[in-house]
Amino acid sequence: MYDSYSQAGNRAIKVAVIGAGNRARKYLEYAIMHPDELAIVAIVDPVEIRLNQLSDKFAIPAEYRFSNYYDFFATDIELDAVMICTPEDKHFEPTMMAIDKGYNILLEKPIAQTLQECEAIAQGAKEKNLVVGVCHVLRFHPYFIKIKEIIDSGELGEVISFNHTADINLDRVTHGFVRGSWNRAEKTNPMLISKCSHDVDLALWMVGSKCKKVSSFGSLRWFKAENAPKGSADRCIHCPDHIESKCPYSAIDLYKVRHDWVANFDVPEDSTLDKVLDRELAQGPYGRCVYRCDNNVADHQMVNIETENEVTASFTINAFTLNDCRFTQVNLTHGEITGDEQKLTVRRFRERTTEVYDFSHVAHMPFHGGSDLRLVADFVEAVRNRNHKLRTDIQDSLESHRVCYAAEESRLTGKTIIFKD
Ligand SMILES: NC(=O)c1ccc[n+]([C@@H]2O[C@H](COP(=O)([O-])OP(=O)(O)OC[C@H]3O[C@@H](n4cnc5c(N)ncnc54)[C@H](O)[C@@H]3O)[C@@H](O)[C@H]2O)c1
Repeated sequence: MYDSYSQAGNRAIKVAVIGAGNRARKYLEYAIMHPDELAIVAIVDPVEIRLNQLSDKFAIPAEYRFSNYYDFFATDIELDAVMICTPEDKHFEPTMMAIDKGYNILLEKPIAQTLQECEAIAQGAKEKNLVVGVCHVLRFHPYFIKIKEIIDSGELGEVISFNHTADINLDRVTHGFVRGSWNRAEKTNPMLISKCSHDVDLALWMVGSKCKKVSSFGSLRWFKAENAPKGSADRCIHCPDHIESKCPYSAIDLYKVRHDWVANFDVPEDSTLDKVLDRELAQGPYGRCVYRCDNNVADHQMVNIETENEVTASFTINAFTLNDCRFTQVNLTHGEITGDEQKLTVRRFRERTTEVYDFSHVAHMPFHGGSDLRLVADFVEAVRNRNHKLRTDIQDSLESHRVCYAAEESRLTGKTIIFKD
């Protein structure tokens, strides 16, 4: 039997990975940097090219490469944990199967597709006393940690309001939420949950309290057929030049000209990225006109929260922006904090002083400013040492998911949702 301990040292935790895509590839860099802590022993992915590319990188033997997680869970591989990095319609089932087997779990956010599923996972983890971490990586980001430290130090008094905006970038939106995998709420989740459970989690973490009331507004305002320019076509490659050349959402411009968001296209050995892109533009979902996709998730949304400690928190998702960053403003009784992930400004009211912290070097670092790797380190430590408290455990994440699902309910019904004890 393949024994990763012999390769990686006897303190490494043995982990299987389910879903060998973008997120898994990032987290697994940790195993390359720290083979004495993390050993990858099995990989599951139905897409052969991804399964083999990642398995080759970790010298996973053929019998530990699986095309589906049923086969994987049917084995009795000796493991400490699984990492679940599948799309969210494939979170609940493998997570419950992993709980059943008694494996600790690092689970990509969002937890699952309904609050009931999230609760079942949290309950299962509790009953089996398992470590279940949820990948809310922003809690590991030095910039956000600095804000949290300033708040918790008490030097600026008590938090009165927390206002936060996620500029999620137009290319990300057209790629993921209009043409791509996260474009239908019932297939994955509403955009607030798919993309921004991070931000609601962050707000509750910063404020250090539970949500008492939540309301939300938003809709799919723009990316639908009635807004298509007259004379435009179903695919960008068929669109007349005078329309395509002015369209800010053109797939030709995004993929072929600017080469953005192309890392997610699989390139078989006997092909090239250019050929893959040409085929995608002609036949694939990513070549479709943004006004004529099957998307139904909102393209703009606001969430308002009142917490048990009487803090008001607001959160806005901006899709229509070139920025890819978050703006945060925290107003406290004795000072205020503002930042854009690069520059953090702290002002004290009585002293009339201003301090500025520069995080621009972190903002440009890979792996979410190194946070992805710090998250894995935290998980490894929690599995090895059960006294170690995870920074993003399932119970904390359950709270933010509860608020997200309630916000969606509010957006759809127009009601303010009031939480009862
Ligand atoms: N924490 C973050 O900052 C962050 C960022 C982006 C995405 N995400 C989340 O991470 C998850 C994965 O996103 P991604 O960008 O890596 O997507 P991805 O499409 O790049 O990777 C998902 C992988 O799962 C595989 N897969 C699909 N069905 C499977 C199955 N039944 N069994 C095993 N593997 C299966 C796919 O083939 C693919 O390789 C999603 O839930 C997403 O919302 C989190």
